[in-house]
Amino acid sequence: MNHHKQSPFKVLFVCLGNICRSPAAQGVMQQLVDEKGLTDRFFIDSAGTSGYHNGDLPDRRMRVHARQRGYELTHRSRRVEGSDFEQFHMIVAMDNANAADLRRMAATPQEASKIVMMGDYIRLMRNHYDYVPDPYYEGSEGFELVLDLLEDACDNLLTHILSSEDTPHRV
Ligand code: 4NP
Repeated sequence: MNHHKQSPFKVLFVCLGNICRSPAAQGVMQQLVDEKGLTDRFFIDSAGTSGYHNGDLPDRRMRVHARQRGYELTHRSRRVEGSDFEQFHMIVAMDNANAADLRRMAATPQEASKIVMMGDYIRLMRNHYDYVPDPYYEGSEGFELVLDLLEDACDNLLTHILSSEDTPHRV
């Protein structure tokens, strides 16, 4: 067991607006990490590929549905920036459009290799969802679905990070 102080493993969740899916993923993952006593070993953040909602709190509907499950979402929306590809060890895209935008932003193949798909970690309703669908134009069931998928995928992603031999930066 290594008891030396280590720098945190940094995970960035990314969607389009950074007001629905990715701040919810950030909240779910932060709570999982805290529950497991791993708070000091992780830095969890989120950002959007667009700057449409810069500075905004998460969408009110997302905050209401998240709060019902015990997550307080207080993140302020920001756009992904070039330095994120240097800062973070893992950049998690919610859907294929997010991943394509991120790949265009990566400065090097090494930076691009940090991009992973949230859908790859979804086990729930696996035959139906290999991405996290944008709930922005949906009703409340869209927000509940997003939270169901994120709770499942974050648990699986954390397990993967903690056990992976090929994690870019061992936790
Ligand atoms: P998100 O949802 O990408 O999950 O934050 C969206 C929020 C806002 C917009 C699109 C998606 N928008 O076009 O304003």
